[in-house]
Amino acid sequence: MLAVHEDRLAAAVARLGSENAFEILARAREIEARGRRVVHMEIGEPDFDTPEHIKKAAVDALYENHTHYTPSSGLPSLRATIAEYASRFRHVNPQWEAENVVVGPGAKPVIWNTLSALLDPGDEFIYFDPAYPAYASCASYHQATIHAIPLLESRNWRMDLDELARRVSAKTKVVVINSPHNPTGGVLTKGDLEFIAGLAGRFDFLVLADEIYSRNFYLGSEYVSIASLPGMRERTIVVDGFSKAYAMTGWRLGYALMPERLARTVTLFNNNTFSCVASFVQMAGIAALTGPDEPVTRMNEIFRTRRDRLIEGLNAIAGISCLVPEGAFYAFPNVSEITHDDRALAKFLLDEGGVACGGGSSFGAAGEGYLRFSYAASLDDIDWALQSIAKTLPKFTNLSSR
Ligand SMILES: Cc1ncc(COP(=O)(O)O)c(C=O)c1O
Repeated sequence: MLAVHEDRLAAAVARLGSENAFEILARAREIEARGRRVVHMEIGEPDFDTPEHIKKAAVDALYENHTHYTPSSGLPSLRATIAEYASRFRHVNPQWEAENVVVGPGAKPVIWNTLSALLDPGDEFIYFDPAYPAYASCASYHQATIHAIPLLESRNWRMDLDELARRVSAKTKVVVINSPHNPTGGVLTKGDLEFIAGLAGRFDFLVLADEIYSRNFYLGSEYVSIASLPGMRERTIVVDGFSKAYAMTGWRLGYALMPERLARTVTLFNNNTFSCVASFVQMAGIAALTGPDEPVTRMNEIFRTRRDRLIEGLNAIAGISCLVPEGAFYAFPNVSEITHDDRALAKFLLDEGGVACGGGSSFGAAGEGYLRFSYAASLDDIDWALQSIAKTLPKFTNLSSR
């Protein structure tokens, strides 16, 4: 906790959360710097390089002097490209227009700016636990009344719909869903989405659908977005970006699609914070969406192979059980037979075994007794990590039973 009084910080600072994965990454790097092997499964970023045609588009754009400010909502050509791509990919009708699109330096600041445009103190805000930490951090900063509804391992990491129905009311302003899901890899079914859409209509709330993993999807069926359901285009904010699908985490490029009036207000937040995204990065975004799709499908095939190897290996270790994730690139094994102190176990696995992963409880109370592994690591690294976990776990169990 920050020493608010000593440092003369705003009291609101104490309400901010943070992404623990970056702290684990820093610790893992320190251990590596001492010459030890570490397999990185803590951070949510593809280990692939950005596809060549996207890099080339950025370099060309630089040499064509796309080096100036752009509008705060994004380059008109990128917004039009995103509107076309997102409407086609999600079968949204009527199609989104450029005016529905807001571009930002990653999806994360777009989430912050969108929630900031919506939440007043006391507004009811619902999200599902465990979760990507950015939603609750922003809602708590704005003093919204937060309801965290647990996701259930027994429902393949989907929510209990009756519990959701009990929690929503006329005061509910925003419900955040995230499918495929970080940290569990769960995917909501069309039936779940229809149920949520029905509640949204009845109780007049907005749905922020974080669909950043919509291209990291292994079910074989078509991806379904809640925005494509009847009446939902006007009530949904779809968040997406380039980080995960195109291995562009460090470029910082994301966006959201939303009703036009809201887009204008979110743009005002962009204007007041980062002004705009680097223009040559936005040009690279156009190349990503209009260029060959083969690199995306190829990366996903590799992810799927790694997923299968990791899940099989985890389930072969005594005390661990893990559902097969249907999307994203995370495994969320249950380690509650070994310990409920998942963070201590994650630390031990890193310090003793050189395997960097996250404790489930850093994603919310419902994550207690789980670990999060990102399988953005080579098969060789995954095999090594599995062996190391199998060797290291008994030492943890011995220590904690003393
Ligand atoms: C669920 C979810 N949403 C949004 C983001 C933000 O991605 P970025 O800011 O890199 O676009 C992430 C990144 O880990 C994520 O897991």
